[in-house]
Formats: sequence, structure tokens, C-alpha cells
Amino acid sequence: MATMRLDKLLCDLGLGSRREVRDWIRAGRVALDGAVLRSPEQKLDPEAGVLALDGKALRYQANHYFMMDKPVGVITATEDPGQKTVLDLLPPELRRLGLFPVGRLDKDTSGLLILTDDGDFAHRVTAPKSGVEKRYLAEVEGVPDAGDVNAFAEGLILGDGTRCLPAGLELLGGDRCIVTVQEGKYHQVKRMLASRGKPVRMLRRLSIGALELDETLGPGGFREMDQQELCTVFLDRKPKTQA
Ligand code: URA
Repeated sequence: MATMRLDKLLCDLGLGSRREVRDWIRAGRVALDGAVLRSPEQKLDPEAGVLALDGKALRYQANHYFMMDKPVGVITATEDPGQKTVLDLLPPELRRLGLFPVGRLDKDTSGLLILTDDGDFAHRVTAPKSGVEKRYLAEVEGVPDAGDVNAFAEGLILGDGTRCLPAGLELLGGDRCIVTVQEGKYHQVKRMLASRGKPVRMLRRLSIGALELDETLGPGGFREMDQQELCTVFLDRKPKTQA
């Protein structure tokens, strides 16, 4: 692995601010394989040995991945002068990691949101050619029907001429349905349903690829994901033929 500055490395671990970690290093609290390191500028390979703070071994992680149940009323951004963002829901040590949301949910949409500091991963999830499916539970005005299912399957053309790829619409009875899309156009699900005369009253993202929202998190809850879980993002929930 490439070398990096010791103070940056400790910051990336979410341990403290750049100023705090510099103080700890200068105070002799940081060691590599038992040898005290006193220079914050020193470059080292985080995988070259066991790094420790106050004698406690630290596990270096190049990137971080969190799942959040985004609540309604919070915007999908890293910072905003007036509104609460999804990053504001994290404790300070996680805010220091440089996380950002993968894709976007509207302020009044809830559900599965991934936060990461891995730009390549985020791009792979959101790039239209990746074809990663996103599933949404919707409550609408009116009752979606078989005509809507067919129109979604054929690929809708919205009022402004925007062409949508074929999408899934599963009827749950009454005003509830599940929409599955492979793209992430602006307000896409709301616009698709509105174009069928079924404006959305409630929207919640349930899954991205085969990664399902952990419903035990509760609104605003989050947890770290492991690599195995992460890979499910690029898998289909069901074989395509059954979708
Ligand atoms: N489609 C929408 O219309 N809104 C969202 O938040 C996500 C998908």
C-alpha cells in the first residue's frame, strides 16, 4: 500500500482532528511495532506494521461504508447552511472520515442510503451503465393498476419528454406499490408515478441491488457494513427473468 503521512492516517481512522492527533504523536503516544513515532509528517505504509495509540493496536481501513435509514426531513448532502443533512446524524468521529452519500434521496423520501468515502464505489453504484436496481415502496393517490404495470414495463416517457428505461411496478393492493428502477433521474420515481396520474404521498427506498435496508436501524439509524454485505449491492435481488 502507498505511504501516507502519519497524522493523516490517524485522522482517516476517525480518531481525532488533525490537531489532536498531532498532539498525541508529539506526546509519544503513537507507536509502530512498538517503536514510538514522534513526527506527524512522517510517511509510512499503514499495512507495514502494527500501529498503536497508547499501546492499543489500531486497525487501518482504507475506506468505510455505512448503511443509514435516512429519515424524512433531512437532506442528502454533506453540509448545508440552513438544513439538517444526513452527515449531521453521525457522531463527530465519523463525520471526520470524509463520508458522503451514494446517490440522492429527496428530503421527504426515507430509507436505504449508503455513506462512504470511496469515490470509485459510489460511481459504480450510481453510473447508469452499472444497472444497479433500486427498489422503492410508494404510497400514492389513487390505486395503481395493471395498465400502470404495463406502462412501467414498456418504459415511460415523462411530460417533458424524458425517456425512462423499463421499470418494475408491483401492486401491493390499494394505494401501495413497489417501484424498481435502474436509473436515478431527478425525482424519478415521483415523476414516473405522477405521469400515470398517481402522485406519490410517501416514498421509502428498500434496497439497492440485493442489499436490503436493515429495518432494525430505525429512522436516522446507521451501521457499518462489511465487504461481503457491500458486494451484494452489485447482485440482483432476483434472477432477471423473475423480476
Ligand atoms: N425517486 C424520487 O422521486 N425521489 C427519491 O428520493 C428517489 C427516487
